[in-house]
Amino acid sequence: MPTIKFISEKKEIQVPEGANLRAEALRAGVPLYQGPDRILNCHGMGSCGTCRVNIVKGMENTSPRGLKERLRMAISMAYVGNEQTMRLACQTRVLGDVEVQTRPPLNLFGENFFS
Ligand code: FES
Repeated sequence: MPTIKFISEKKEIQVPEGANLRAEALRAGVPLYQGPDRILNCHGMGSCGTCRVNIVKGMENTSPRGLKERLRMAISMAYVGNEQTMRLACQTRVLGDVEVQTRPPLNLFGENFFS
């Protein structure tokens, strides 16, 4: 059984292979949303982009991005600087061990913008 480690929450859960990352996070009480997004999200339809997470470790153990997720990524600035590791939790299947950062901060200008 794959293990999901939520870094900020210091929580580890075991899930069945192929489990949906959003569903497992919410079931475990891990907050994926901030502010009004807690209510005003698309509830897993892959259209709002508010369930973004950063896969810190184990990206190879997640399902590939589908068309819906790639389209969402193409129209959002929230992925800037994290294009390789950012995923929509609702569109991600867990196939092996992963480490996840929930509610990652925006990085609109890159890490070195102010330095
Ligand atoms: S919950 Fe809206 S994109 Fe995932």
